Amino acid sequence: MDIQIYGLGTHSTQWSDRFSVGNKELDFQHLKMINLLNRLILISATHSIHSEVIKSILDEMTTYAHVHFKTEERLMETYNYPGIKEHKKQHLDFQVKTIEVYEATEHNAEENAEDLLKYLTNWWTHHILEEDMAYKEFFIDKGLR
Ligand SMILES: [Fe+2]
Repeated sequence: MDIQIYGLGTHSTQWSDRFSVGNKELDFQHLKMINLLNRLILISATHSIHSEVIKSILDEMTTYAHVHFKTEERLMETYNYPGIKEHKKQHLDFQVKTIEVYEATEHNAEENAEDLLKYLTNWWTHHILEEDMAYKEFFIDKGLR
């Protein structure tokens, strides 16, 4: 069930099987990322985007994203995933762009908060459902679960 957040057009995203990439560790990390996003969306509805609470969740998210990207990339390296170069580039682009979007919120927090949340939600749902899903069969064929 989607939750409409008061004052923000951003919907929370619920984990479901459609997000499963067929690997327990990666699914767990994606679930944790979606939970962080949902916490951010909920808290943003009641706090200013620059409250310490939101900052700490964003910090947690970027730190955890780094750990998660490394896990995926290590598996891709180990099994010679053919799409590794492009996939790594997307992870790097996310890290660069997230800093940019976050810095933009410092200048105009009220207007940019929604953009930041939309960007993060869109990026993660698209990345998991399209880009990460592309390695699902590959890793399953390699015997990974
Ligand atoms: Fe990824």
